[in-house]
Amino acid sequence: MNYGRVDATVLAALRSALDSGDVLSCAEDLQHYGHDETEDLAFPPEVVVRPRKTDEVSRVVKVCAEHHIPITPIGGRTGLSGGALCVHGGVGLALDRMDRIVEIDERNLQVTVEPGVITQVLQDAVAAKGLYYAPDPSSKGSCTIGGNIAENAGGPRAVKYGVTRDFVLNLEVVLPSGEVIWTGANTLKNSTGYDLTRLIVGSEGTLGIITKAVLRLIPLPKENRLMLVPFNSATKACEAVSAVFRAGITPSALEFLERDAIDFTLQHIEGLSMGIAPEVQAHLLLEVDGNHGDVLMRECETILCVMEAHECGEVLFAETAAEKDALWKLRRNVAVAVKAHAIYKEEDTVVPRFALPDLLAGIKEIGRTYGFRTICYGHAGDGNLHVNIIKEALSDAFWKDELPKAIREIFQLTVGLGGTLSGEHGIGLVQRSYMDIAFSSTQLALMGAIKRVFDPHGIMNPGKVLPA
Ligand code: LAC
Ligand code: ZN
Repeated sequence: MNYGRVDATVLAALRSALDSGDVLSCAEDLQHYGHDETEDLAFPPEVVVRPRKTDEVSRVVKVCAEHHIPITPIGGRTGLSGGALCVHGGVGLALDRMDRIVEIDERNLQVTVEPGVITQVLQDAVAAKGLYYAPDPSSKGSCTIGGNIAENAGGPRAVKYGVTRDFVLNLEVVLPSGEVIWTGANTLKNSTGYDLTRLIVGSEGTLGIITKAVLRLIPLPKENRLMLVPFNSATKACEAVSAVFRAGITPSALEFLERDAIDFTLQHIEGLSMGIAPEVQAHLLLEVDGNHGDVLMRECETILCVMEAHECGEVLFAETAAEKDALWKLRRNVAVAVKAHAIYKEEDTVVPRFALPDLLAGIKEIGRTYGFRTICYGHAGDGNLHVNIIKEALSDAFWKDELPKAIREIFQLTVGLGGTLSGEHGIGLVQRSYMDIAFSSTQLALMGAIKRVFDPHGIMNPGKVLPA
């Protein structure tokens, strides 16, 4: 597709579309907004605009529509599939200045937010009122609600409470025409017509720009218990995962960490230390939460029985808030630590929970065949395994030509086990060429048709999600 360029006329129109003149075009700013956390990829926009309200977003989009300029919505730039990369240049629409918590509705347990609110800021604000917004991606200290909704982000608590989509009730969206709509109603139930809200969630900025969200809240659980369980066999650890649920427990987190994931994190993140016996191959990090300590204690006992039946080592219970924080810091920093160590590619495989041991074994087998190391970790309770493929001494030629074949095999394995390509990171730029593994041409044609209905001129985050 041939797009217009951001020339002096377009720049002037963009400036007058914004009341406060937040248009950035110096090289340093373009570089800053030109990358997210996906590998080492950088695709700077031609210009960055930073609106403060929906009207301004709408006017900016109308300018882009008129001049056929691509628009890429940009949130906290913590994405891992390249969703916020401006692959065709154009306008980078940074939503970081639309960061107000508009209203916390304590009567209905709902909150209305702008897209630039940092996830942790929202969690803290509602927690102060005894309420809980559960989705908590590892990057929650810097990712934004808009980005979370665009990617349908998950995180450790999704296993009990659901992913971002399960908390979104209604969205204000600026369409690629510049028109503004609300997608649904602020109700907990809604069987009224096609569900535009759920369509926009996870659409990765390709259908419109989210400018407000009404989110569901729940009462904040009063207590939790956290334990770290070592295993000498990663397979046994994975097998223990589905057994926990079959024993009648739904933990509020059930995370898997391969030995290497912990070793990398201890090595690269300051202020963490832990002795791990040499024979330990993997850990499960389990949390239960609720309002009654005695119930949680009984749940922990049941979990311990399941763990012992799967030949676990000595279980570490986090006793204090500081000990819990340290374990979560360890878990949440795995991606950062791997990135600090090496060039890598991160896949976000997800399978039905019981297939997790087969997924892990199959990935290791593919790694052995092609000769690369993987570091696997993630949200085991959801069957969601993050697979970091490490470049280390592999040649650039291998990385460019052979690795895509191996990744294809990993995804074929995943889909063959009843799973799919991404559990929570999205398809974005880097996974789009594998979409044919998960979907037939009929399914992809339907998605393409939906895209064209919303965005007939292809200006909204082009180059993402659907195969070229
Ligand atoms: C995590 C991110 C990478 O689970 O999704 O840490
Ligand atoms: Zn994750």
